[in-house]
Amino acid sequence: MVSTRLYGGSITQFSQTIKRFGWSATFVDFDDTDAVAAACDDDTRAIFCESIANPGGYITDLPAIAAIADAQGVPLIVDNTSATPYLCRPIEHGATLVVNSTTKYLTGNGTVTGGVVVDSGTFDWMASDKFPSLSQPEPAYHGLVFAEALGPMAFTFHGIAVGLRDLGMTMNPQGAHYTLLGIETLSLRMARHVENAEKIAGWLEGNEHVDAVTYAGLESSPYHHRMATICPKGAGGLFTIALKGGYDACVKFVDSLELFTHVANLGDTRSLVIHPASTTHRQLSPEQLEAAGAPANVVRLSIGIEDPKDLIADLEQALAAAH
Ligand SMILES: Cc1ncc(COP(=O)(O)O)c(C=O)c1O
Repeated sequence: MVSTRLYGGSITQFSQTIKRFGWSATFVDFDDTDAVAAACDDDTRAIFCESIANPGGYITDLPAIAAIADAQGVPLIVDNTSATPYLCRPIEHGATLVVNSTTKYLTGNGTVTGGVVVDSGTFDWMASDKFPSLSQPEPAYHGLVFAEALGPMAFTFHGIAVGLRDLGMTMNPQGAHYTLLGIETLSLRMARHVENAEKIAGWLEGNEHVDAVTYAGLESSPYHHRMATICPKGAGGLFTIALKGGYDACVKFVDSLELFTHVANLGDTRSLVIHPASTTHRQLSPEQLEAAGAPANVVRLSIGIEDPKDLIADLEQALAAAH
């Protein structure tokens, strides 16, 4: 079962691609914890959400969702890409597995595509018959019972011995080197991303051309109260704005920006902008766009570490040009 508030590519993966493996996913609004609990059944094998969702600025109530996963005996998998481990530590809130796209803040300069899976090592794969690849002899690896032989490292070793070996998503050494260099400055960059995002989101909220700003760091956000528990150092550098001029104004606004780079990535040191409805989320239906926080009148900003005065000046001229 997955949250409706996910990165567009993840929505496509869960609604389309996994069907080819014979799997399926139920999409649920994770603010409605009764609906999340009710959507679990004997076929449920995992619960998946993002800590701070891309692009909507939505913060998931991780402890509440973890409690449901525990009661159901399934792992909670949290995509922590937007928050990074500097701002949010999902395992401390009950996550079993954490996934991060290292393409984003962890590398920090858009030079590498990659990802990591972090295993809490706390899940009991033997407690039910739901996870036979780990609790039963694995035919793809000499009949090894991974959970028996490797205990808390069972999932990680299965991922390497079967997943990486057979499916081949191995990062090249040079890419890994760039990512490790990026991680060395993660704390400095994230603190500055948050500082800039707070200033810019506050400024945008008061702009006459802007209908709404989704940044959870703003007191006006319905998710602001979750920061204290989930991401006390800040709500990240990613948020959306809704423009009064709708779809056309969004396209013109993106074209008019000079300091913001128009790319699909997020989490670079440089400020980035994209109009999801015409690009990254174009494959989604209007209902999915709405649920993912990316309707036609919405632009996503990934605030970089530049001087915030320069960024505000650029936003000001592009908003004026677009309306
Ligand atoms: C939250 C989130 N998860 C996963 C991904 C996928 O990352 P990658 O481009 O490294 O495959 C993205 C990409 O935008 C993302 O925003």
